[in-house]
Amino acid sequence: AAESDALADGVLTVGTNAEFPPFEYVDDNGEADGFDMALCKAIGEKLGVEVKIENMEFASLVSSIGSKIDIAAAGMTVTDERKESVDFSNPYYEAVQYVIVSADSDIATADDLKDKTIGVQLGTTGDFIAEEYTSNVAQYNKAVDAVNDLVNGKVDVVIIDKNPALVFETKFEGKVKAIEGAQFGFETEEYAIALPKGDTALADAVNGAVDELKADGTFDELVKTYIEA
Ligand code: ARG
Repeated sequence: AAESDALADGVLTVGTNAEFPPFEYVDDNGEADGFDMALCKAIGEKLGVEVKIENMEFASLVSSIGSKIDIAAAGMTVTDERKESVDFSNPYYEAVQYVIVSADSDIATADDLKDKTIGVQLGTTGDFIAEEYTSNVAQYNKAVDAVNDLVNGKVDVVIIDKNPALVFETKFEGKVKAIEGAQFGFETEEYAIALPKGDTALADAVNGAVDELKADGTFDELVKTYIEA
């Protein structure tokens, strides 16, 4: 098969935004770690290339593919809008948006979200959903800052993906609660790796590597280690 330009130099540069535990976060040594990082390193091993991580703003990832980075792994939801600029690997994880509110809040339905001040991470699907309910969307570069502002009363609600919501619920224990998105009618989303448009050789290589990691048990092990731990 034709080789992808992105792999030709033996280095796969993976863009992420390490503000999204457990999929990506900065560890105690200042390195980006998390499920997506471990998955990409395992993909790199299968493909025999070195993996370099570029930590950047989430909202810059899609436009950086093909220049600063080869691919992006960032708990990124497949959307039609993003598909106009990038291709996606086969989906590797199912997600849904959750609602975080203060522990004593009685917000419980989609109606309750109307005209509230909603904190989100800039450029995420949570951001796009929030804009359907209110014109008071507070956009943050780091999701944790949105949750901090929820705790100190500057926003009423944070909309963010399920797994980070559960991590933040634990981190801010007793102060906030995470509510299932189904209760608000939010639809399921799928995470995939974003790839340069039209690079079918790279897409085949990445999908093939993930298939192998699923078949040999590595993928499930990473899910257990990072997501279900
Ligand atoms: N799944 C959401 C989206 O695609 C949020 C992803 C945020 N990821 C991150 N690494 N900060 O918009």
